[in-house]
Amino acid sequence: MSTRIKPQPGIMDIELYVGGKGAVKGQSNTVKLSSNENPWGPSEDAKQAYRAVAGDLHVYPSGDHGPLRTAIAEVTGLDAERIICSNGSDELISFLCQVYAGPGDEVLFTEHGFLMYKLCAQAAGATPVAVPEKERHTDVDALLAAANENTKLVFIANPNNPTGTMISASDVARLADGLPEQALLVLDGAYAEFVDGFDGHADLVDERENVFMTRTFSKIYGLGGLRLGWGYGPAEIVNTLHRVRGPFNVNASALAAGEAAMRDVNYTVKCRETNAQWREFLREKLLGIGIACDASQTNFVLARFGSEAEADAADQALSDAGLLVRAVKSYGLAECLRITVGKGADCKRVVQVLQEFKDGWVA
Ligand SMILES: Cc1ncc(COP(=O)(O)O)c(C=O)c1O
Repeated sequence: MSTRIKPQPGIMDIELYVGGKGAVKGQSNTVKLSSNENPWGPSEDAKQAYRAVAGDLHVYPSGDHGPLRTAIAEVTGLDAERIICSNGSDELISFLCQVYAGPGDEVLFTEHGFLMYKLCAQAAGATPVAVPEKERHTDVDALLAAANENTKLVFIANPNNPTGTMISASDVARLADGLPEQALLVLDGAYAEFVDGFDGHADLVDERENVFMTRTFSKIYGLGGLRLGWGYGPAEIVNTLHRVRGPFNVNASALAAGEAAMRDVNYTVKCRETNAQWREFLREKLLGIGIACDASQTNFVLARFGSEAEADAADQALSDAGLLVRAVKSYGLAECLRITVGKGADCKRVVQVLQEFKDGWVA
């Protein structure tokens, strides 16, 4: 191998992203509760739209994502011209870092924030800065204190992953208003649809020049496998981001399925309601058996154990029962497990296994 071919400085410092477990060797019939996917899958309309594309796979997809942007605009009331679509919202996070941050610049995110903020900042050659949270909640004062003349991007997810917690709109507005003028606030709304009546802070985007919102079809819409996300921001920022995306960055199947999923509002509402029902069941039962758990606004709960050893043992007990959840050590939460809200029967099994685990656990 040639030793003369070298990556850019800092690239080899990027840790490989490890996704949620999807299988266990030698075990069949496992239930994946490790990646916050929709256990009910996408709407029937989305599946039908996906199948319908099969006859036209030789044709390049729409390069301007027009029909999808129109569907998003019609359902959300946002301006279609200021919507940009992407290959998962991960791609937008990457574009934002590529465009707005480079060597010498700082990219802020919260202590237990989504890992891609750090990885994309590093890929752009910028300096990632993790800012402490307050009891697993985004701490606006800490973010404002950490921002300086080098800060170019500030990422927060609201609600947040993997904590499931959410801060108020007024706190988010205070953050937007208090940042230095060269910094863009990125509001990651991957879980926004799980909060009834919440627009992901689109109103803040409309009112300000320094706020951008990202959204995904991977969570409530059940289309994680297709890789589809979108963003909404000031015209100038959207226009700038278009310059770095590939001309056909979203494939035809994703465009078609995403459009149908977006328009099937009744299905989205049903998923939100069913999720909320089982999420509250899960949380109440966990609290009942002595496992700490913050109120969650998402499609997962963060179970907090007494120690890392206890979380590891609980993870093993769940895995032995075929229930795959997410250890979140890489998020600085070694004593926690993130559990996606599954179908009712699976939530009940999680509770049963954890109850038995707790009964037998000696600290
Ligand atoms: C907070 C947050 N943002 C973004 C993403 C990325 O989503 P996508 O599948 O759209 O790339 C995730 C996925 O888990 C997430 O949790």
